[in-house]
Amino acid sequence: METLIIHGCGGHARSVAASVMHEWDVFFVDDNGRPDEKIFGRPVFRDLEMIPAYEKAFHHIGTGDLVLKKKLFDEFSQRGFRFPALIAADAVIAAGARLEPGVFVGAGAYVGPLAHVGQNAIVNTRAVVEHDVSVGCHSHISIHASVAGYVRIGARVMIGAGATVIDKVSISDDVVIGAGAVVVREISIPGTYVGVPARRIK
Ligand SMILES: CC(C)(COP(=O)(O)OP(=O)(O)OC[C@H]1O[C@@H](n2cnc3c(N)ncnc32)[C@H](O)[C@@H]1OP(=O)(O)O)[C@@H](O)C(=O)NCCC(=O)NCCS
Repeated sequence: METLIIHGCGGHARSVAASVMHEWDVFFVDDNGRPDEKIFGRPVFRDLEMIPAYEKAFHHIGTGDLVLKKKLFDEFSQRGFRFPALIAADAVIAAGARLEPGVFVGAGAYVGPLAHVGQNAIVNTRAVVEHDVSVGCHSHISIHASVAGYVRIGARVMIGAGATVIDKVSISDDVVIGAGAVVVREISIPGTYVGVPARRIK
């Protein structure tokens, strides 16, 4: 098995590890890790340089904080680190769908035909990204969210748990959609949107 270093050891990092550790030799790195800490029997290092041959390993940014996720991904990409797309065993990736480096597709999630998921984005547990959807870099489609066909989602967008985006709508960069919201029309101003239909609160 090849080595996968997951940056972070919080809830999202554990979710990623649990989904892929059957096919990767997983190590965690997190400066908040406790001495001798292990997760699923796998070691947590406080310092990347302590992991043998870390530069030749594969990497994944395992934080749900999208600002930090982007920062670390950019920094390590510049150092030439490799970021595979990680796909849980029971996720479905339809024909013609494209996943860029650093993507995570969680347990039971679905990425439809001809959809495109940008670098370092998350399609979390049981989320649906339907046909011809585009998800921008570093964005997060949270657990059980549904994104209908032809939707365009920008970079660093968070679609909250169980939210729905109806078909053919566009959402610009740096938008947060609250849990359970329903987006029924284009969103072009960065901010936080909640409710049914989704309206801007911040
Ligand atoms: C929308 C969200 C980002 C707002 O967080 P926040 O900026 O801290 O805002 P607050 O909690 O101060 O709430 C502001 C107002 O919006 C309301 N609100 C917050 N989230 C809401 C939601 N999802 N739907 C409807 N109303 C919501 C609050 O009740 C509050 O209303 P009030 O001013 O009348 O009291 C957050 O509540 C949310 O839904 N996050 C999604 C988390 C998620 O899905 N995580 C999944 C990870 S896999």
